[in-house]
Order: sequence, then C-alpha cells, then structure tokens
Amino acid sequence: MSKRLQAVRGMNDILPSTVQDWQYIENLLRQLTVAYGYHEIRTPHLEQTELFCRSIGDVTDIVEKEMYTFDDRNGDSITLRPEGTASCVRAGIEHGLFYHQTQKWWYMGPMFRHERPQKGRYRQFYQFGLEAFGFSGPDIDAEIIAFSARLWKELGLLDSLELQLNSLGTPAIRQQYREQLIAYFQQHHDQLDEDSQRRLLSNPMRILDSKNPALATLIANAPKLSEHLDDESQQHFQGLCTLLDKLGIAYVINPCLVRGLDYYTKTVFEWVTTELGTQGTVCAGGRYDGLVEQLGGQATPAFGFAVGIERLVSMLQARDSEHRASRQPMVLSVMAAEDVDFSRALILAETLRSRCPALRIELHCGGGRLKNQFKRANQQGARWAIVVGDEQATAAEPFMFKWLQEETLPIALNESQLLLHLQSLLEQ
Ligand code: HAM
Repeated sequence: MSKRLQAVRGMNDILPSTVQDWQYIENLLRQLTVAYGYHEIRTPHLEQTELFCRSIGDVTDIVEKEMYTFDDRNGDSITLRPEGTASCVRAGIEHGLFYHQTQKWWYMGPMFRHERPQKGRYRQFYQFGLEAFGFSGPDIDAEIIAFSARLWKELGLLDSLELQLNSLGTPAIRQQYREQLIAYFQQHHDQLDEDSQRRLLSNPMRILDSKNPALATLIANAPKLSEHLDDESQQHFQGLCTLLDKLGIAYVINPCLVRGLDYYTKTVFEWVTTELGTQGTVCAGGRYDGLVEQLGGQATPAFGFAVGIERLVSMLQARDSEHRASRQPMVLSVMAAEDVDFSRALILAETLRSRCPALRIELHCGGGRLKNQFKRANQQGARWAIVVGDEQATAAEPFMFKWLQEETLPIALNESQLLLHLQSLLEQ
C-alpha cells in the first residue's frame, strides 16, 4: 500500500471548524488598520536569500538554522520569508516609497521557519504586522503600541497580556556594551550552557534572552544596557514611557529583552502571556532606524511589530464558548418537503440572501426526509427553519416558519410576510 500523504510537519491545515476564529481576528485587524490609517502591502512569499541575511543578521537563529532556503532552477538562492519586515523595506526601497514621505503599512500572511514544532511554534505560521516608515519620535512607537493594546481589549485579552519594554540604544552604544557583556560572561564561562557558550562571541546579547533557569542569576547580575544608554536613546525611551502613562497603557521595563533579530535600535517590546506555556510571546516588535539605509535606501527611521495569529487564536479558543458563539451569524435552514419542487426552496434561499445579508442561509440541497433535514439543521446550529410545502402550509401561505431552539408554534406565511417577520426578528 502506498504511504499515507500528510501535511509537512509543523505546517497546519486550518479546518472549517476553527477558521471562524481566524476570520474574526482578521476582520477585527482590518477594521483597526482603517481606524489607524494603515494601508495594506502584499509582498512575495519568496525573496532572495541575501535580503534576510543582510537584515535579520547572519548570526541569528533564524538565518543560521531556520530558513527554508534553496536554489531555484536558475541556481539563484531564494528563501521562503521567515518574517515580513525585511520584505517591506526591500519593497519600499525598490519602488522609491521612502523619499520625503512617510508610510504606514500592514500585512498579513504565512511566514516560514524551520523550528522544532511544538504547541504555539510552527514551521508555517501566520503573522499580522504593522510597519511605519519616516517617523523618528516616540509618538509613533506609542501609537503603534496603542493599536496592539486596543486589539487585546477588543478581543477580551488585555488582562492576560503583559507589555514588556526595553531600549537597545544606538548600534555604537550596543557595540561598547557587547564588549562589556563578553568580558562579564567570559569570567563565568564554566557556568554558561552550550548554547550560550556558542553565542558568547557571535551574539552575546542573546544570552540575556536565555530561558535556562540555571542561568537566571548570572543573567540578573550581568551589566545592563539601560545603564549605558546614550542621551538620545534615553530621551526617546522616556518620551515613550510618558506617552504610554498618559494613554493608561501599563508596561514593565525588562532590561533583558533583546529580541532575536539584529535590526533593532532604541525601543523593543513584547506582549507576553503565561497562558501559552513556553511560547508566550504573542506580539513583538520595535524600532529599526538603520535598516532602510543598511539595505541600500536613504536613512529612514522605522517602527513596527508582528502578531502571531496562531497564538492569538489559541488564547481566544481557551475563552468561554458562549462568547465565541455570540460572534457567529444567525443560521436559518431552508428545506423543501419531499414531494415539493426543490426549485421553490432554491429561489426562496436566493431571495433571503439578498434581503437578509446578516443571516447564514443553509439550503438543504439534496432534500431527503424532513425528519433528517431537521436533524441536519440542529447540527448546523440553526435557530430557525423554513419548510417549503410543509403539509400544514397552504397555497396562499406556502412557507412554514419554525423555531428550532424554543418551544414556539410554527407559523404559515407567504413570501412578503416571511421577509417582514425575519426582519423584525433580526432587529430584536
Ligand atoms: P518575531 O518576534 O520573530 O518578530 O515574531 C513575531 C511574532 O510572530 C512572535 O511574537 C510570535 O507570536 C509569532 N511567531 C514567531 N515565530 C513563530 C512560530 N514559529 N510559530 C508561531 N508563531 C510564531 C518578527 O517577525 C518581526 N518581523 C516583528 C517586527 C515587525 N519588528 C518590527 N516590525
């Protein structure tokens, strides 16, 4: 027998039974982008490998271990995008969109990282991201963080998420700090785990981000970047904190927050939860003022974040199902009695879809015995059913309207009475 075909490990089907939660989040995100004046950008899923090496950084986990990179038929090295920021910067430079203008963009779609799959960590996962270009002050940092806070509030998740903030300063300050950090960890070399020893010279700041409890004290006593920040970065960070205070957005300053991508400068932030086990970061981002220039454009300040949609969906699904059910559209089943011309039900369903767009109309194509059709209507969660040509119906009032979840008597109606009746029910 041939081998059973399965999805690639770490890449998931999103089945119709859960896609509603995804759509709910996606629709809300789209509404918020309008409210905040962001415009959608769609970039290819494949980019030249060099783009990610030059932006995310050669000695990051993503570039070293996680990219889906291969040679195409021309022998060019291409990579499935592991994130969206680098592609936005590439597109902005390529189309000349950063000259003397600001840009506020959003994107949503799949990203690919060859990580070890576990709950909340996948090899194909979906991100929603915001990127703003051309704004240097902390006001845009605050506005974008306010966007994320509003998203949690709308989803009922604000109380379960903590905002962590840090400033990484300028590249020059980070270089000095890096040397201090290497010197400090070298003094304690034997206490470092294998991963941290490997990172010591290549990317020592990532040691601060280690989740190994055995390193917690060593990390807590390490020199802090915040104590070495230049005046401009310090003022920027202070400015952001003041704006967040004024907006009433609570935050925790986490001096160990360094992020796993090299392009950040000044502000970095993460929204974290304890509800998702080890993969507790739902949203992350920060400022990357050097990246546009680094990739060949003119110097352009930038700030953005990305949300992991799977992690958001998991948090929502853990919430009470009643709350989720209230977001579903009302379902109306349309069925034809066995001896009735089915085209009458088909035409009625089309009329209802035109006149009552808020309803989900489940037309029972294939007909069958009414008893079985009612069973199906209940499985579909229908609130009401209309039977065309029910034995109680008459030629003048050919449709029987029935409640499925309440003990209410069915009523016979003609088409215009039916439409009025439905409209009044929907207005209640
Ligand atoms: P990131 O921290 O690599 O940042 O990813 C952002 C979010 O994507 C994470 O907080 C997490 O929710 C989700 N995520 C990342 N990897 C996975 C995975 N393997 N499975 C499931 N979810 C995942 C970035 O990607 C930056 N581009 C964010 C940014 C935008 N910074 C500035 N602008």
